[in-house]
Amino acid sequence: MTKKILILPGDGIGQEVTKSSNEILDYLIAEYSLDFEIKAMDVGGTAYDLHGSPIPADVLSCAKDSDAILFGAVGGPKWENLSWDDRPEQALLTLRKELELFANLRPAFLFNELASASPIKNNIIEGLDILIVRELTGGVYFGEPRAIVKDEIPNYAFNTMIYNENEIRRIAKIGFESARKRKGKLCSVEKANVLEVSKFWREIVTDMSKDYPDVELSHQLADNTAMQLVLNPNQYDVIVSSNLFGDILSDIAATLSGSIGMLPSASLNSSSQGMYEPCHGSAPDIAGQNIANPIAMIASLAMALRYSLSQPDLADKIENAIKVFVENGNRTKDISTSNEFINTSDVSSKLIEIMKNG
Ligand code: IPM
Ligand code: MG
Repeated sequence: MTKKILILPGDGIGQEVTKSSNEILDYLIAEYSLDFEIKAMDVGGTAYDLHGSPIPADVLSCAKDSDAILFGAVGGPKWENLSWDDRPEQALLTLRKELELFANLRPAFLFNELASASPIKNNIIEGLDILIVRELTGGVYFGEPRAIVKDEIPNYAFNTMIYNENEIRRIAKIGFESARKRKGKLCSVEKANVLEVSKFWREIVTDMSKDYPDVELSHQLADNTAMQLVLNPNQYDVIVSSNLFGDILSDIAATLSGSIGMLPSASLNSSSQGMYEPCHGSAPDIAGQNIANPIAMIASLAMALRYSLSQPDLADKIENAIKVFVENGNRTKDISTSNEFINTSDVSSKLIEIMKNG
């Protein structure tokens, strides 16, 4: 059956890195006669400028109709002062919510050759291989009521951090099952010492652990996890957390790996439909200079092939090529420790060459 792929390059370096992943995708389609139908559309600030909305209605309906969405990045100073609903980030939040992409998988791993690019001492990060499972459609990001109130003195603002039992169970299940396929360790992270919603989260996850006797479950408070990720990241296998804590912890974890430019992510719903995006943002400071690292986007394409497009072997192929690429000493600017580096537009041809030889 034809698989539908929607490409949403977005803003800033999103444009450049999706160009690279498109080149890999085109190569795979031709080489393996894949039955893929591909569309590309505007999203984020670019879509706002051209069509008056960060996520035009036809983009949303096309996304709903796709098996996989390859999302570059959105945002930039140009759009920072727009009203809430017009801001580029709304594209991301709307797609997550409307497609119910509740399970955000953010791997953080280190190519040992790149240890010197990490700000953390080599002996601490060597062998780093963590999976952060972040809840993506609930919690304080979407909780109601929420408001900024300016007709009372003093003015005030509030959000609601809320999870129901089903939301916690479905994300914790992904956490337990991921741990089962990896090293069998799951760490559930919250603030059960302060927040009711976290205490409830801990109760539910503890209850579920009865069904996973083979998974070693631990609980940690989010502030402690932030510290432990830097002091001793190798204590973790899989971390499962809420939308807000997962957001913060995944940025810390990404930094450990040397460059956020290497890390992909997948956001899945219960019918394996998924949105795939690099962990990095639109990086307006380096956009248009042909120096962005497209590996995170290309590795996101690999995740799409694995989770939504029924091509796990091709996912392995891309991931192996990335490994060889790094082993061979290829470095984009962000991971280079000298003045020599390879430009964005040269990465995909190198990877294709490796895949052809592999
Ligand atoms: C992320 C980003 C987003 C988030 C922003 C851009 C809305 O930080 O995907 O981690 O907070 O979820
Ligand atoms: Mg974030």
